[in-house]
Amino acid sequence: MQTQKKIKDLRQILKTARSQGKSIALVPTMGNLHEGHLQLIRQARDRYDFIVCSIFVNPLQFGEKEDLGAYPRTLEADRESLRREKCDCLFLPSVQEIYGDGLEQQTSVNVPGLTENFCSTSRPGHFEGVATIVTKLFNIVQPDASFFGLKDYQQFLVIRKLTQDLALEIAIHGIETHREESGLAMSSRNNYLSKQNKEKAASLYKCLRSCAEAIQQGNTDFQQLEKKARTELKKASLEPDYFQICDAESLQPPSTDTQHIAILGAVFVGKSRLIDNIRFQLS
Ligand code: PAF
Repeated sequence: MQTQKKIKDLRQILKTARSQGKSIALVPTMGNLHEGHLQLIRQARDRYDFIVCSIFVNPLQFGEKEDLGAYPRTLEADRESLRREKCDCLFLPSVQEIYGDGLEQQTSVNVPGLTENFCSTSRPGHFEGVATIVTKLFNIVQPDASFFGLKDYQQFLVIRKLTQDLALEIAIHGIETHREESGLAMSSRNNYLSKQNKEKAASLYKCLRSCAEAIQQGNTDFQQLEKKARTELKKASLEPDYFQICDAESLQPPSTDTQHIAILGAVFVGKSRLIDNIRFQLS
């Protein structure tokens, strides 16, 4: 596996791969790779010829009081995992390489509609930061496809929309969440959790599941179900940020036209904020 730090060097390598008729897939990450990320690499590997994984802790998507400085950086272990998964190229740019003119001067990408609720409320500017870096990575790599985890479901929809709106010819693949045995969704932020908090955190998925089961059994009193779930989360010593049932495409409250439901949840536990979701078709 090769590592490229400069955009122009990466472009050169991609030009060669393309001239050999290879299809290219991009897996954007912020590093601290866990099994969930490796699934993205494997899925990309199965379907495309040349796999680029980017590791870039994007300052633009962190709020002032967030964990940018403390975000886990485990480069050597990440490199080893990528080599094992037969990733072809690691793109490892510096902040200077990506935002040479400074963060304030950066042109940004704003995706309206989908970024008005859920994580945007407690993380203002977060999705603009995500949309901007992802668009920039798409323009640098010009991949045929890109892979994202569905744990960050709102992020996935935002990226899918920006790809459509900006007419980018990139297939966006959403890959199912990888979970620990307890049901806890894998996340780099799980590293911040003590053993005890990790056990508590597993209740988020339990609440998502029991809410989904209730809806599948015909309960349509969504407000009451959300209220019940928030009470359950508090009982498990988790502080709910949001727990909401919505239309899986629009992220708006379900309507009579809704076919797919998404239930999105975010909780505070210890110093961490964790998110998860569950999606299903209405019968
Ligand atoms: O999901 C992530 O790790 C990040 O938000 C992403 C998509 C790599 C953009 O920085």
